[in-house]
Amino acid sequence: MCGIIGYIGGNVESNLYLGLERLEYRGYDSSGMVIKRGSNFTTYKATGVVEKLKPTIKEVATFGIGLAHTRWATHGGISIENCHPHFSSCGDTALVHNGIIENYEELKGDLIKKGKYFYGQTDSEVIAKLFDCKLNINNLRRVREKLIGSYALAIISKNSDYIYFAKNKSPLYIGLGNDCALIASDPSCFVGFADSYITLEDGDYGKFSKKEVIIYDKNNKIIKKQPEKLDFSFINEELSGYSHFMLKEIYQSRIALEKIIEVYQSYAMKEKLEILKNKEFDRIYLIGCGTAYHAGLIGESYMRDAFNIDVFCEIASEIIYKNLNIDEKSLCIFISQSGETADTLSALEYCKNRGGIVVSITNTEYSSIAHKAILNFPILAGQEKAVASTKAYFAQCIVLYIITNYLKGIDYIFPLQNFKRQIDFGDDNILKSLASKLANFEKVFFIGRKRDYITAKEASLKLKEITYIFSSAEPSGELKHGVIALIDKTVPVIVIATDEKVFNKTLNNACEIKARGGKLILFTTLNIDNEIEKAFDFVVKVNKVSQAFMPLQIILSLQKLAYFTAVAKGLDPDKPRNLAKSVTVE
Ligand code: M6R
Repeated sequence: MCGIIGYIGGNVESNLYLGLERLEYRGYDSSGMVIKRGSNFTTYKATGVVEKLKPTIKEVATFGIGLAHTRWATHGGISIENCHPHFSSCGDTALVHNGIIENYEELKGDLIKKGKYFYGQTDSEVIAKLFDCKLNINNLRRVREKLIGSYALAIISKNSDYIYFAKNKSPLYIGLGNDCALIASDPSCFVGFADSYITLEDGDYGKFSKKEVIIYDKNNKIIKKQPEKLDFSFINEELSGYSHFMLKEIYQSRIALEKIIEVYQSYAMKEKLEILKNKEFDRIYLIGCGTAYHAGLIGESYMRDAFNIDVFCEIASEIIYKNLNIDEKSLCIFISQSGETADTLSALEYCKNRGGIVVSITNTEYSSIAHKAILNFPILAGQEKAVASTKAYFAQCIVLYIITNYLKGIDYIFPLQNFKRQIDFGDDNILKSLASKLANFEKVFFIGRKRDYITAKEASLKLKEITYIFSSAEPSGELKHGVIALIDKTVPVIVIATDEKVFNKTLNNACEIKARGGKLILFTTLNIDNEIEKAFDFVVKVNKVSQAFMPLQIILSLQKLAYFTAVAKGLDPDKPRNLAKSVTVE
Protein backbone atom coordinates (compact mmCIF):
# COMPACT_ATOMS: atom_id res chain seq x y z
CA MET A 1 0.00 0.00 0.00
CA CYS A 2 1.21 3.40 -0.95
CA GLY A 3 3.23 3.80 -4.10
CA ILE A 4 6.37 5.87 -4.46
CA ILE A 5 8.17 7.17 -7.51
CA GLY A 6 11.25 9.32 -8.03
CA TYR A 7 12.36 10.75 -11.35
CA ILE A 8 15.38 12.62 -12.72
CA GLY A 9 14.95 14.02 -16.25
CA GLY A 10 12.82 16.30 -18.41
CA ASN A 11 9.07 17.01 -18.06
CA VAL A 12 9.22 15.99 -14.41
CA GLU A 13 5.67 16.98 -13.48
CA SER A 14 3.91 15.10 -16.27
CA ASN A 15 6.16 12.04 -16.03
CA LEU A 16 5.72 11.81 -12.27
CA TYR A 17 1.98 12.22 -12.74
CA LEU A 18 1.93 9.32 -15.21
CA GLY A 19 3.86 7.30 -12.63
CA LEU A 20 1.24 8.14 -10.02
CA GLU A 21 -1.53 6.97 -12.31
CA ARG A 22 0.31 3.69 -12.75
CA LEU A 23 0.80 3.34 -9.00
CA GLU A 24 -2.71 4.34 -8.02
CA TYR A 25 -3.68 0.68 -7.54
CA ARG A 26 -1.51 0.81 -4.40
CA GLY A 27 -3.78 3.34 -2.70
CA TYR A 28 -5.85 6.38 -3.54
CA ASP A 29 -6.49 8.19 -0.26
CA SER A 30 -4.24 11.12 -1.23
CA SER A 31 -1.31 11.93 -3.49
CA GLY A 32 1.53 14.40 -3.59
CA MET A 33 4.61 15.50 -5.46
CA VAL A 34 7.75 17.55 -4.85
CA ILE A 35 9.97 18.92 -7.62
CA LYS A 36 13.46 20.32 -7.21
CA ARG A 37 14.75 22.82 -9.75
CA GLY A 38 17.97 24.61 -8.89
CA SER A 39 17.78 24.73 -5.11
CA ASN A 40 14.02 25.25 -4.86
CA PHE A 41 11.24 22.84 -4.02
CA THR A 42 7.72 23.04 -5.47
CA THR A 43 5.17 20.87 -3.71
CA TYR A 44 1.70 19.67 -4.70
CA LYS A 45 -0.73 17.74 -2.49
CA ALA A 46 -4.36 16.65 -2.75
CA THR A 47 -6.64 14.26 -0.91
CA GLY A 48 -8.65 11.66 -2.83
CA VAL A 49 -7.85 9.89 -6.07
CA VAL A 50 -4.78 10.86 -8.10
CA GLU A 51 -6.94 12.80 -10.58
CA LYS A 52 -7.52 15.38 -7.82
CA LEU A 53 -3.84 16.28 -7.89
CA LYS A 54 -3.79 17.09 -11.61
CA PRO A 55 -5.43 20.56 -11.57
CA THR A 56 -3.01 21.74 -8.86
CA ILE A 57 0.12 20.97 -10.91
CA LYS A 58 1.88 23.70 -12.90
CA GLU A 59 3.73 22.07 -15.75
CA VAL A 60 7.34 23.27 -16.29
CA ALA A 61 8.83 21.39 -19.24
CA THR A 62 12.44 21.54 -18.09
CA PHE A 63 14.84 19.20 -16.34
CA GLY A 64 14.22 18.51 -12.68
CA ILE A 65 14.35 15.99 -9.89
CA GLY A 66 11.13 14.93 -8.25
CA LEU A 67 9.33 12.53 -5.97
CA ALA A 68 5.69 11.51 -5.92
CA HIS A 69 3.50 9.38 -3.68
CA THR A 70 0.04 7.87 -3.67
CA ARG A 71 -1.24 6.97 -0.21
CA TRP A 72 -3.25 4.21 1.42
CA ALA A 73 -3.68 5.57 4.93
CA THR A 74 -2.30 3.50 7.81
CA HIS A 75 -1.20 5.99 10.49
CA GLY A 76 -3.19 9.22 10.53
CA GLY A 77 -6.35 10.17 8.69
CA ILE A 78 -6.81 11.28 5.11
CA SER A 79 -5.65 14.90 5.19
CA ILE A 80 -3.23 17.27 3.47
CA GLU A 81 -1.01 17.23 6.58
CA ASN A 82 -0.62 13.46 6.29
CA CYS A 83 -0.07 13.59 2.54
CA HIS A 84 3.46 12.82 1.30
CA PRO A 85 6.08 14.18 0.60
CA HIS A 86 7.22 14.92 4.13
CA PHE A 87 10.02 17.33 4.93
CA SER A 88 12.91 17.62 7.39
CA SER A 89 12.51 20.39 9.98
CA CYS A 90 14.63 22.82 7.97
CA GLY A 91 12.57 22.03 4.86
CA ASP A 92 15.64 21.16 2.75
CA THR A 93 15.04 17.40 2.58
CA ALA A 94 11.88 15.77 1.21
CA LEU A 95 10.90 12.13 1.26
CA VAL A 96 8.23 9.67 0.22
CA HIS A 97 7.71 6.41 2.05
CA ASN A 98 5.89 3.12 1.55
CA GLY A 99 5.73 0.80 4.56
CA ILE A 100 5.19 1.00 8.30
CA ILE A 101 7.69 2.21 10.88
CA GLU A 102 6.90 0.11 13.94
CA ASN A 103 8.92 2.20 16.44
CA TYR A 104 7.68 5.56 15.17
CA GLU A 105 6.00 6.56 18.43
CA GLU A 106 9.21 6.15 20.40
CA LEU A 107 11.21 8.03 17.74
CA LYS A 108 8.59 10.76 17.58
CA GLY A 109 8.66 11.17 21.37
CA ASP A 110 12.45 11.70 21.29
CA LEU A 111 12.18 14.17 18.41
CA ILE A 112 9.46 16.17 20.17
CA LYS A 113 11.68 16.37 23.24
CA LYS A 114 14.37 17.82 20.97
CA GLY A 115 11.91 20.49 19.88
CA LYS A 116 10.84 19.10 16.49
CA TYR A 117 7.36 20.06 15.33
CA PHE A 118 5.01 17.60 13.56
CA TYR A 119 2.28 18.67 11.14
CA GLY A 120 0.52 15.32 10.87
CA GLN A 121 0.21 11.90 12.47
CA THR A 122 2.07 9.65 10.04
CA ASP A 123 4.98 7.39 10.82
CA SER A 124 6.55 8.67 7.58
CA GLU A 125 6.86 12.24 8.84
CA VAL A 126 8.98 10.86 11.70
CA ILE A 127 11.56 9.58 9.17
CA ALA A 128 11.66 13.00 7.49
CA LYS A 129 12.28 14.71 10.83
CA LEU A 130 15.17 12.33 11.57
CA PHE A 131 17.13 13.90 8.71
CA ASP A 132 19.39 16.85 9.36
CA CYS A 133 19.63 19.55 6.76
CA LYS A 134 22.41 17.83 4.85
CA LEU A 135 21.42 14.74 2.92
CA ASN A 136 24.32 12.34 2.36
CA ILE A 137 25.03 8.62 2.61
CA ASN A 138 26.22 8.84 6.22
CA ASN A 139 23.05 10.59 7.26
CA LEU A 140 20.91 8.07 5.43
CA ARG A 141 22.80 5.18 7.04
CA ARG A 142 22.35 6.76 10.47
CA VAL A 143 18.61 7.28 9.95
CA ARG A 144 17.90 3.80 8.62
CA GLU A 145 19.72 2.25 11.59
CA LYS A 146 17.06 3.84 13.81
CA LEU A 147 14.11 2.46 11.86
CA ILE A 148 12.28 -0.73 12.76
CA GLY A 149 9.69 -1.85 10.24
CA SER A 150 9.17 -1.81 6.52
CA TYR A 151 10.17 0.96 4.19
CA ALA A 152 10.78 1.88 0.59
CA LEU A 153 12.17 5.40 0.78
CA ALA A 154 13.07 7.96 -1.87
CA ILE A 155 14.62 11.17 -0.63
CA ILE A 156 15.82 14.38 -2.25
CA SER A 157 17.53 17.49 -0.98
CA LYS A 158 17.76 21.08 -2.17
CA ASN A 159 21.54 20.68 -2.07
CA SER A 160 21.97 17.48 -4.06
CA ASP A 161 21.37 16.26 -7.61
CA TYR A 162 20.88 12.67 -6.49
CA ILE A 163 17.84 10.73 -5.35
CA TYR A 164 18.68 8.77 -2.20
CA PHE A 165 16.89 5.54 -1.39
CA ALA A 166 16.59 2.74 1.17
CA LYS A 167 14.60 -0.49 1.17
CA ASN A 168 13.42 -2.94 3.80
CA LYS A 169 10.48 -5.30 3.22
CA SER A 170 8.71 -2.93 0.80
CA PRO A 171 9.33 -3.29 -2.94
CA LEU A 172 11.69 -0.85 -4.66
CA TYR A 173 13.24 -0.79 -8.13
CA ILE A 174 15.56 1.58 -10.04
CA GLY A 175 14.81 2.22 -13.73
CA LEU A 176 17.58 3.11 -16.16
CA GLY A 177 16.73 5.12 -19.27
CA ASN A 178 18.73 7.02 -21.89
CA ASP A 179 17.46 10.42 -20.81
CA CYS A 180 16.26 9.78 -17.30
CA ALA A 181 16.61 7.66 -14.18
CA LEU A 182 13.77 6.55 -11.93
CA ILE A 183 12.93 4.75 -8.73
CA ALA A 184 9.54 3.22 -7.96
CA SER A 185 7.53 0.67 -6.01
CA ASP A 186 6.72 -1.16 -9.23
CA PRO A 187 8.76 -1.41 -12.46
CA SER A 188 5.59 -0.96 -14.52
CA CYS A 189 6.18 2.78 -13.86
CA PHE A 190 9.31 2.56 -16.00
CA VAL A 191 7.54 1.57 -19.22
CA GLY A 192 8.23 4.25 -21.85
CA PHE A 193 11.16 5.68 -19.85
CA ALA A 194 13.60 2.88 -19.14
CA ASP A 195 14.49 -0.34 -20.89
CA SER A 196 16.18 -1.99 -17.92
CA TYR A 197 15.80 -1.95 -14.17
CA ILE A 198 17.52 -3.02 -10.96
CA THR A 199 15.72 -4.90 -8.20
CA LEU A 200 16.74 -3.69 -4.74
CA GLU A 201 17.00 -6.17 -1.87
CA ASP A 202 16.12 -5.70 1.80
CA GLY A 203 18.85 -3.69 3.49
CA ASP A 204 19.98 -1.97 0.28
CA TYR A 205 20.40 1.79 0.32
CA GLY A 206 22.28 4.37 -1.74
CA LYS A 207 21.83 7.13 -4.29
CA PHE A 208 21.50 7.59 -8.04
CA SER A 209 21.65 10.31 -10.64
CA LYS A 210 21.26 10.14 -14.42
CA LYS A 211 24.92 9.15 -14.65
CA GLU A 212 25.49 6.65 -11.85
CA VAL A 213 23.86 4.31 -9.35
CA ILE A 214 25.60 3.63 -6.04
CA ILE A 215 24.15 0.82 -3.95
CA TYR A 216 25.26 -0.31 -0.48
CA ASP A 217 24.04 -3.62 0.92
CA LYS A 218 22.91 -4.31 4.49
CA ASN A 219 26.58 -4.78 5.49
CA ASN A 220 27.41 -1.27 4.23
CA LYS A 221 29.46 -2.66 1.31
CA ILE A 222 29.15 -1.09 -2.15
CA ILE A 223 27.61 -3.68 -4.50
CA LYS A 224 27.09 -3.93 -8.26
CA LYS A 225 23.77 -5.21 -9.54
CA GLN A 226 23.06 -6.49 -13.02
CA PRO A 227 20.12 -4.61 -14.57
CA GLU A 228 17.29 -6.78 -15.92
CA LYS A 229 15.47 -6.11 -19.17
CA LEU A 230 12.05 -4.52 -18.75
CA ASP A 231 9.14 -6.57 -20.13
CA PHE A 232 6.76 -4.11 -21.83
CA SER A 233 4.05 -6.65 -22.55
CA PHE A 234 2.82 -6.74 -18.95
CA ILE A 235 1.34 -3.22 -18.85
CA ASN A 236 -2.45 -2.77 -19.08
CA GLU A 237 -3.21 0.94 -19.45
CA GLU A 238 -5.98 1.24 -21.99
CA LEU A 239 -9.63 0.53 -21.27
CA SER A 240 -9.91 -0.66 -24.90
CA GLY A 241 -13.59 0.27 -25.12
CA TYR A 242 -14.59 -1.20 -21.76
CA SER A 243 -16.12 1.07 -19.12
CA HIS A 244 -13.85 -0.25 -16.38
CA PHE A 245 -10.69 -2.31 -16.01
CA MET A 246 -12.58 -4.89 -13.96
CA LEU A 247 -14.83 -5.79 -16.89
CA LYS A 248 -11.92 -5.77 -19.32
CA GLU A 249 -9.95 -8.03 -16.99
CA ILE A 250 -12.79 -10.53 -16.58
CA TYR A 251 -12.77 -10.94 -20.36
CA GLN A 252 -8.98 -11.16 -20.39
CA SER A 253 -9.30 -14.49 -18.56
CA ARG A 254 -9.57 -16.12 -21.96
CA ILE A 255 -6.33 -14.45 -23.13
CA ALA A 256 -4.61 -15.56 -19.93
CA LEU A 257 -5.73 -19.13 -20.59
CA GLU A 258 -4.39 -18.98 -24.17
CA LYS A 259 -1.06 -17.65 -22.93
CA ILE A 260 -0.83 -20.29 -20.20
CA ILE A 261 -1.53 -23.06 -22.72
CA GLU A 262 1.21 -21.71 -24.97
CA VAL A 263 3.86 -21.12 -22.31
CA TYR A 264 3.20 -24.22 -20.21
CA GLN A 265 3.92 -26.38 -23.26
CA SER A 266 7.39 -24.88 -23.62
CA TYR A 267 10.54 -26.80 -22.80
CA ALA A 268 11.58 -24.20 -20.20
CA MET A 269 8.32 -24.49 -18.29
CA LYS A 270 8.30 -28.27 -18.43
CA GLU A 271 11.83 -28.24 -17.07
CA LYS A 272 10.59 -26.13 -14.15
CA LEU A 273 7.69 -28.50 -13.52
CA GLU A 274 10.11 -31.42 -13.69
CA ILE A 275 12.34 -29.84 -11.02
CA LEU A 276 9.25 -29.61 -8.80
CA LYS A 277 8.31 -33.22 -9.54
CA ASN A 278 11.75 -34.38 -8.47
CA LYS A 279 11.49 -32.74 -5.05
CA GLU A 280 10.77 -35.08 -2.18
CA PHE A 281 7.75 -34.03 -0.14
CA ASP A 282 5.00 -35.80 1.74
CA ARG A 283 2.69 -32.84 2.46
CA ILE A 284 1.53 -29.85 0.46
CA TYR A 285 0.56 -26.45 1.84
CA LEU A 286 -1.14 -23.86 -0.35
CA ILE A 287 -0.93 -20.38 1.11
CA GLY A 288 -2.38 -17.00 0.14
CA CYS A 289 -4.71 -14.15 1.13
CA GLY A 290 -8.15 -13.11 -0.08
CA THR A 291 -8.81 -14.25 -3.61
CA ALA A 292 -5.42 -15.95 -3.85
CA TYR A 293 -6.42 -18.03 -0.80
CA HIS A 294 -9.62 -19.02 -2.59
CA ALA A 295 -7.54 -20.10 -5.60
CA GLY A 296 -5.52 -22.14 -3.11
CA LEU A 297 -8.72 -23.85 -1.95
CA ILE A 298 -9.49 -24.81 -5.55
CA GLY A 299 -5.89 -26.10 -5.86
CA GLU A 300 -6.33 -28.05 -2.62
CA SER A 301 -9.42 -29.75 -4.07
CA TYR A 302 -7.50 -30.70 -7.25
CA MET A 303 -4.55 -32.03 -5.29
CA ARG A 304 -6.60 -33.94 -2.73
CA ASP A 305 -8.40 -35.69 -5.58
CA ALA A 306 -5.11 -36.48 -7.32
CA PHE A 307 -2.65 -37.43 -4.58
CA ASN A 308 -2.50 -39.72 -1.64
CA ILE A 309 -0.82 -37.23 0.67
CA ASP A 310 -2.07 -34.49 2.95
CA VAL A 311 -2.88 -31.19 1.26
CA PHE A 312 -3.78 -28.11 3.29
CA CYS A 313 -4.79 -24.64 2.21
CA GLU A 314 -3.96 -21.92 4.72
CA ILE A 315 -4.58 -18.18 5.12
CA ALA A 316 -1.14 -16.55 5.06
CA SER A 317 -1.74 -14.22 8.01
CA GLU A 318 -2.84 -17.15 10.21
CA ILE A 319 -0.27 -19.80 9.37
CA ILE A 320 2.30 -18.74 11.97
CA TYR A 321 -0.20 -19.28 14.80
CA LYS A 322 -1.13 -22.82 13.81
CA ASN A 323 1.91 -24.79 14.90
CA LEU A 324 1.84 -26.73 11.63
CA ASN A 325 4.28 -29.47 10.86
CA ILE A 326 6.33 -27.61 8.25
CA ASP A 327 9.74 -29.10 7.49
CA GLU A 328 12.02 -30.26 4.63
CA LYS A 329 9.29 -32.64 3.47
CA SER A 330 6.69 -29.88 3.08
CA LEU A 331 5.98 -28.40 -0.32
CA CYS A 332 4.75 -24.85 0.38
CA ILE A 333 3.08 -23.16 -2.60
CA PHE A 334 2.55 -19.42 -2.17
CA ILE A 335 -0.11 -17.85 -4.35
CA SER A 336 -0.11 -14.10 -4.92
CA GLN A 337 -1.15 -11.98 -7.87
CA SER A 338 1.07 -9.05 -6.88
CA GLY A 339 3.84 -11.12 -5.37
CA GLU A 340 4.18 -8.36 -2.77
CA THR A 341 1.46 -9.15 -0.21
CA ALA A 342 3.13 -8.65 3.18
CA ASP A 343 1.16 -11.41 4.95
CA THR A 344 2.10 -13.90 2.22
CA LEU A 345 5.74 -12.78 2.29
CA SER A 346 5.92 -13.26 6.07
CA ALA A 347 4.35 -16.70 5.77
CA LEU A 348 6.92 -17.53 3.08
CA GLU A 349 9.81 -16.54 5.39
CA TYR A 350 8.21 -18.59 8.17
CA CYS A 351 8.00 -21.72 6.01
CA LYS A 352 11.47 -21.16 4.55
CA ASN A 353 12.97 -20.90 8.04
CA ARG A 354 11.42 -24.25 8.88
CA GLY A 355 13.03 -25.87 5.86
CA GLY A 356 9.91 -25.97 3.64
CA ILE A 357 10.28 -26.26 -0.13
CA VAL A 358 9.07 -22.82 -1.09
CA VAL A 359 7.45 -22.37 -4.50
CA SER A 360 5.33 -19.47 -5.78
CA ILE A 361 2.54 -18.80 -8.24
CA THR A 362 2.51 -15.09 -9.11
CA ASN A 363 1.56 -12.66 -11.84
CA THR A 364 4.77 -10.69 -11.34
CA GLU A 365 8.02 -12.52 -11.96
CA TYR A 366 10.06 -9.59 -10.64
CA SER A 367 8.18 -9.52 -7.30
CA SER A 368 9.58 -10.22 -3.83
CA ILE A 369 7.65 -13.48 -3.48
CA ALA A 370 8.83 -14.76 -6.87
CA HIS A 371 12.42 -13.80 -5.96
CA LYS A 372 12.33 -15.59 -2.63
CA ALA A 373 10.80 -18.82 -3.93
CA ILE A 374 13.03 -21.54 -5.38
CA LEU A 375 10.64 -21.85 -8.33
CA ASN A 376 8.07 -19.36 -9.56
CA PHE A 377 5.17 -20.42 -11.77
CA PRO A 378 3.83 -17.37 -13.64
CA ILE A 379 0.11 -17.02 -14.21
CA LEU A 380 0.70 -14.85 -17.32
CA ALA A 381 -2.49 -12.82 -16.85
CA GLY A 382 -0.92 -9.44 -17.67
CA GLN A 383 -1.24 -6.49 -15.31
CA GLU A 384 -4.41 -6.55 -13.22
CA LYS A 385 -5.43 -2.98 -12.42
CA ALA A 386 -8.87 -3.29 -10.86
CA VAL A 387 -8.63 -3.84 -7.11
CA ALA A 388 -11.00 -6.80 -7.32
CA SER A 389 -9.00 -9.74 -8.59
CA THR A 390 -10.68 -11.56 -11.49
CA LYS A 391 -8.45 -12.83 -14.29
CA ALA A 392 -5.69 -13.53 -11.76
CA TYR A 393 -7.99 -15.88 -9.80
CA PHE A 394 -8.92 -17.66 -13.01
CA ALA A 395 -5.26 -17.99 -14.07
CA GLN A 396 -4.07 -19.04 -10.58
CA CYS A 397 -6.58 -21.91 -10.60
CA ILE A 398 -5.44 -22.96 -14.09
CA VAL A 399 -1.78 -23.02 -13.02
CA LEU A 400 -2.73 -25.07 -9.94
CA TYR A 401 -4.57 -27.46 -12.26
CA ILE A 402 -1.44 -27.76 -14.44
CA ILE A 403 0.87 -28.37 -11.46
CA THR A 404 -1.50 -31.06 -10.15
CA ASN A 405 -1.71 -32.81 -13.50
CA TYR A 406 2.02 -32.58 -14.17
CA LEU A 407 2.90 -34.08 -10.78
CA LYS A 408 0.34 -36.81 -11.38
CA GLY A 409 1.66 -37.42 -14.93
CA ILE A 410 -1.62 -36.54 -16.68
CA ASP A 411 -1.99 -34.41 -19.82
CA TYR A 412 -3.26 -30.90 -19.15
CA ILE A 413 -3.00 -29.29 -22.58
CA PHE A 414 -5.89 -31.10 -24.27
CA PRO A 415 -8.40 -30.47 -21.43
CA LEU A 416 -7.36 -26.80 -21.29
CA GLN A 417 -7.76 -26.38 -25.05
CA ASN A 418 -11.22 -27.91 -24.78
CA PHE A 419 -12.13 -25.59 -21.95
CA LYS A 420 -10.90 -22.59 -23.95
CA ARG A 421 -13.43 -23.41 -26.66
CA GLN A 422 -16.26 -23.69 -24.14
CA ILE A 423 -15.65 -20.58 -22.00
CA ASP A 424 -18.93 -18.81 -21.28
CA PHE A 425 -18.95 -15.29 -19.79
CA GLY A 426 -22.72 -15.38 -19.19
CA ASP A 427 -25.51 -13.36 -20.75
CA ASP A 428 -25.02 -9.63 -20.07
CA ASN A 429 -28.75 -8.82 -20.22
CA ILE A 430 -29.66 -11.50 -17.70
CA LEU A 431 -26.79 -10.52 -15.39
CA LYS A 432 -27.58 -6.80 -15.64
CA SER A 433 -31.23 -7.40 -14.87
CA LEU A 434 -30.30 -9.47 -11.79
CA ALA A 435 -27.73 -6.85 -10.76
CA SER A 436 -30.31 -4.06 -10.87
CA LYS A 437 -32.46 -6.05 -8.42
CA LEU A 438 -29.57 -7.07 -6.17
CA ALA A 439 -28.44 -3.45 -5.88
CA ASN A 440 -31.51 -2.79 -3.69
CA PHE A 441 -30.70 -5.38 -1.05
CA GLU A 442 -28.61 -4.88 2.07
CA LYS A 443 -27.40 -8.42 2.51
CA VAL A 444 -26.89 -11.43 0.29
CA PHE A 445 -25.91 -15.02 0.99
CA PHE A 446 -24.07 -17.37 -1.34
CA ILE A 447 -24.31 -21.11 -0.82
CA GLY A 448 -22.77 -24.16 -2.46
CA ARG A 449 -21.33 -27.60 -1.76
CA LYS A 450 -17.82 -28.95 -2.46
CA ARG A 451 -16.07 -26.70 -5.00
CA ASP A 452 -19.25 -24.67 -5.34
CA TYR A 453 -18.74 -23.58 -1.74
CA ILE A 454 -15.28 -22.24 -2.66
CA THR A 455 -16.88 -20.40 -5.60
CA ALA A 456 -19.49 -19.05 -3.18
CA LYS A 457 -16.69 -17.63 -1.01
CA GLU A 458 -14.98 -15.97 -3.95
CA ALA A 459 -18.26 -14.62 -5.40
CA SER A 460 -19.19 -13.25 -1.99
CA LEU A 461 -15.81 -11.51 -1.57
CA LYS A 462 -16.19 -9.95 -5.03
CA LEU A 463 -19.67 -8.65 -4.26
CA LYS A 464 -18.83 -7.19 -0.88
CA GLU A 465 -15.59 -5.51 -1.90
CA ILE A 466 -17.02 -3.51 -4.77
CA THR A 467 -20.72 -3.06 -3.86
CA TYR A 468 -20.44 -2.74 -0.04
CA ILE A 469 -23.45 -5.05 0.26
CA PHE A 470 -23.00 -7.34 3.25
CA SER A 471 -22.52 -10.83 1.92
CA SER A 472 -21.53 -14.16 3.32
CA ALA A 473 -20.78 -17.57 1.84
CA GLU A 474 -22.01 -20.69 3.58
CA PRO A 475 -21.72 -24.38 2.80
CA SER A 476 -25.29 -25.30 1.74
CA GLY A 477 -25.53 -27.95 4.45
CA GLU A 478 -24.54 -25.52 7.20
CA LEU A 479 -27.49 -23.14 6.85
CA LYS A 480 -29.79 -25.20 9.02
CA HIS A 481 -27.14 -25.17 11.77
CA GLY A 482 -27.60 -21.49 12.46
CA VAL A 483 -27.45 -19.08 9.54
CA ILE A 484 -30.99 -19.86 8.41
CA ALA A 485 -32.11 -17.71 11.36
CA LEU A 486 -31.19 -14.69 9.21
CA ILE A 487 -33.33 -15.67 6.23
CA ASP A 488 -36.50 -13.74 5.44
CA LYS A 489 -37.98 -12.01 2.40
CA THR A 490 -35.36 -9.26 2.51
CA VAL A 491 -32.51 -11.71 1.94
CA PRO A 492 -31.59 -13.08 -1.48
CA VAL A 493 -29.61 -16.32 -1.49
CA ILE A 494 -27.47 -17.17 -4.48
CA VAL A 495 -27.25 -20.91 -4.93
CA ILE A 496 -24.26 -22.17 -6.91
CA ALA A 497 -24.74 -25.61 -8.43
CA THR A 498 -22.28 -27.11 -10.88
CA ASP A 499 -21.90 -30.60 -9.45
CA GLU A 500 -24.54 -33.10 -10.47
CA LYS A 501 -23.62 -35.48 -7.66
CA VAL A 502 -24.64 -33.09 -4.90
CA PHE A 503 -27.35 -31.14 -6.70
CA ASN A 504 -30.27 -32.83 -4.95
CA LYS A 505 -28.88 -32.04 -1.52
CA THR A 506 -28.26 -28.42 -2.53
CA LEU A 507 -31.80 -28.26 -3.88
CA ASN A 508 -33.17 -29.43 -0.51
CA ASN A 509 -31.24 -26.63 1.19
CA ALA A 510 -32.63 -24.16 -1.34
CA CYS A 511 -36.18 -25.33 -0.53
CA GLU A 512 -35.51 -24.71 3.18
CA ILE A 513 -34.69 -21.09 2.27
CA LYS A 514 -37.78 -20.75 0.08
CA ALA A 515 -39.96 -22.02 2.93
CA ARG A 516 -38.70 -19.08 5.04
CA GLY A 517 -39.51 -16.50 2.37
CA GLY A 518 -35.94 -15.97 1.13
CA LYS A 519 -35.38 -14.99 -2.51
CA LEU A 520 -33.66 -17.78 -4.43
CA ILE A 521 -31.24 -17.20 -7.28
CA LEU A 522 -29.59 -20.11 -9.06
CA PHE A 523 -26.25 -20.01 -10.90
CA THR A 524 -25.78 -23.32 -12.64
CA THR A 525 -24.07 -25.24 -15.42
CA LEU A 526 -26.45 -28.19 -15.05
CA ASN A 527 -29.43 -29.14 -17.21
CA ILE A 528 -32.36 -28.62 -14.88
CA ASP A 529 -36.00 -29.27 -15.66
CA ASN A 530 -38.76 -26.68 -15.63
CA GLU A 531 -40.24 -27.82 -12.34
CA ILE A 532 -36.93 -27.25 -10.56
CA GLU A 533 -36.44 -23.92 -12.31
CA LYS A 534 -39.80 -22.76 -10.96
CA ALA A 535 -38.50 -23.14 -7.40
CA PHE A 536 -36.11 -20.24 -8.06
CA ASP A 537 -36.89 -16.53 -8.42
CA PHE A 538 -34.06 -16.08 -10.90
CA VAL A 539 -31.90 -18.53 -12.85
CA VAL A 540 -28.55 -17.86 -14.55
CA LYS A 541 -27.36 -20.71 -16.79
CA VAL A 542 -23.90 -21.06 -18.25
CA ASN A 543 -22.42 -23.76 -20.46
CA LYS A 544 -21.32 -26.99 -18.93
CA VAL A 545 -17.60 -27.83 -19.01
CA SER A 546 -15.62 -30.69 -17.51
CA GLN A 547 -15.94 -30.91 -13.72
CA ALA A 548 -12.45 -29.54 -12.95
CA PHE A 549 -13.25 -26.29 -14.76
CA MET A 550 -16.78 -25.75 -13.45
CA PRO A 551 -15.61 -23.30 -10.74
CA LEU A 552 -13.80 -21.25 -13.36
CA GLN A 553 -16.69 -21.26 -15.80
CA ILE A 554 -19.28 -20.16 -13.22
CA ILE A 555 -17.09 -17.55 -11.48
CA LEU A 556 -16.95 -15.47 -14.68
CA SER A 557 -20.70 -14.75 -14.48
CA LEU A 558 -20.53 -14.19 -10.73
CA GLN A 559 -17.66 -11.69 -11.18
CA LYS A 560 -19.77 -9.89 -13.77
CA LEU A 561 -22.76 -9.92 -11.43
CA ALA A 562 -20.67 -8.14 -8.78
CA TYR A 563 -19.41 -5.71 -11.43
CA PHE A 564 -22.89 -4.87 -12.81
CA THR A 565 -24.25 -4.49 -9.26
CA ALA A 566 -21.52 -1.97 -8.40
CA VAL A 567 -22.30 -0.06 -11.61
CA ALA A 568 -26.04 -0.18 -10.83
CA LYS A 569 -25.26 1.38 -7.44
CA GLY A 570 -23.26 4.15 -9.12
CA LEU A 571 -19.97 2.96 -7.62
CA ASP A 572 -16.54 2.75 -9.23
CA PRO A 573 -15.78 -0.99 -9.33
CA ASP A 574 -12.10 -0.38 -10.10
CA LYS A 575 -11.39 1.64 -6.97
CA PRO A 576 -13.50 0.41 -4.06
CA ARG A 577 -13.32 2.40 -0.84
CA ASN A 578 -10.76 1.52 1.85
CA LEU A 579 -8.95 -0.99 -0.35
CA ALA A 580 -5.70 -1.11 -2.31
CA LYS A 581 -4.58 -3.58 -4.92
CA SER A 582 -1.29 -4.48 -3.33
CA VAL A 583 -1.44 -5.03 0.43
CA THR A 584 2.15 -4.49 1.56
CA VAL A 585 1.46 -4.10 5.28
CA GLU A 586 0.72 -6.92 7.74
O1 M6R B 1 -1.64 -9.84 -4.64
P1 M6R B 1 -2.28 -10.94 -3.87
O2 M6R B 1 -2.86 -12.00 -4.75
O3 M6R B 1 -1.34 -11.56 -2.86
O4 M6R B 1 -3.45 -10.28 -3.07
C1 M6R B 1 -4.18 -11.00 -2.12
C2 M6R B 1 -5.46 -10.28 -1.72
O5 M6R B 1 -5.14 -9.05 -1.14
C3 M6R B 1 -6.37 -10.05 -2.92
O6 M6R B 1 -6.68 -11.24 -3.57
C4 M6R B 1 -7.67 -9.36 -2.48
O7 M6R B 1 -8.41 -10.23 -1.69
C5 M6R B 1 -8.46 -8.91 -3.72
N1 M6R B 1 -8.79 -7.52 -3.62
C6 M6R B 1 -9.73 -9.66 -3.91
O8 M6R B 1 -10.42 -9.25 -5.05
